[in-house]
Amino acid sequence: MSVLEISDLIGAWDPITGERLPVVKDEVVARLREAGDRRAARIVERMPASGRFLAPGAVDRLFIRVHTELQRLGEELHMAERFAELLAPVLAAARAAGFGPLRIVDVGCGLGYVMRAFAASAELGADVELTGVDLNPVLIAEATRLAEAERLNCRFVRGDAFALTEPATVYISGGVLHHFPAAELAGFFQAQDRPGTAAFVHYDIAATRLAPVGAWVFHRARMREPLGRHDGVASARRAHGDSVLLDAASRPGGMEVFLFAPIGHANPFCASMRPVLGVRPELAGTLRKVLGRRARGLISVDGVREGTGR
Ligand SMILES: C[S@@+](CC[C@H](N)C(=O)[O-])C[C@H]1O[C@@H](n2cnc3c(N)ncnc32)[C@H](O)[C@@H]1O
Repeated sequence: MSVLEISDLIGAWDPITGERLPVVKDEVVARLREAGDRRAARIVERMPASGRFLAPGAVDRLFIRVHTELQRLGEELHMAERFAELLAPVLAAARAAGFGPLRIVDVGCGLGYVMRAFAASAELGADVELTGVDLNPVLIAEATRLAEAERLNCRFVRGDAFALTEPATVYISGGVLHHFPAAELAGFFQAQDRPGTAAFVHYDIAATRLAPVGAWVFHRARMREPLGRHDGVASARRAHGDSVLLDAASRPGGMEVFLFAPIGHANPFCASMRPVLGVRPELAGTLRKVLGRRARGLISVDGVREGTGR
């Protein structure tokens, strides 16, 4: 039976115009029941309605509350630092190979805390444009408000990250891959195989056997919203296995693809975030050089850890 996330069902927008589409409450409840998820159905049953439809204002406020909690989790997991650990060497390799102007696009940025953290620290360099993109206009409005309040040099755009006129030099995402069914993953990676794109870095929950239990403990301890607690565990259950991810990421053929798992960093009791990384082959040598000893965290499509031959 398919595992559903409530947040994927309670808001709908026209993907082109961003215009809000009404969501029939009973249909969402019925879908969750059909999927065998009575707890999720009860969470939606308790949400306010306006006639047959979920009340838009209540849905919007819920999105902001849940994503604010997600931002806190991301901060506790040092997600911006973990992205930067890979992005700094990737950008160094892209600069050396003559890519430019340098643009990072965060696909499905939510409240955009990763982009805002990069803008605040300026650690990736003043020559790097930072853009967060999300299909959800409520999250983009809040990300923009926060960036303006903090006077940060980054921007947020509502829409499909792959429909931007300018390609990203590096596409990144956090907690987005599992939202795509396995059959759609290759299309997700294909969309990033654009001229001008040097690399991608996509973090998602590592699909270990303990990930759902880890996610339950972690979200129970750190999140207050029932929707956030539910979707956190559902995310871990939906996470794609290593071979599914590596196969989809390498199918377009234009990138050298790796998982990145620094030795000794895995925590079997926690839903641990791990990236799939792709770089143009001409950048791979410089990337390894700049990573130095940390290059041993790279695991190739054949499952071979860099520098170990196994
Ligand atoms: C779990 S949320 C991401 C949370 C965010 N990255 C964070 O760490 O807080 C997944 C988001 O991906 C967005 N999304 C999925 N596909 C997208 C696309 N092609 N372009 C832009 N946003 C997308 C959805 O609108 C949703 O808000």
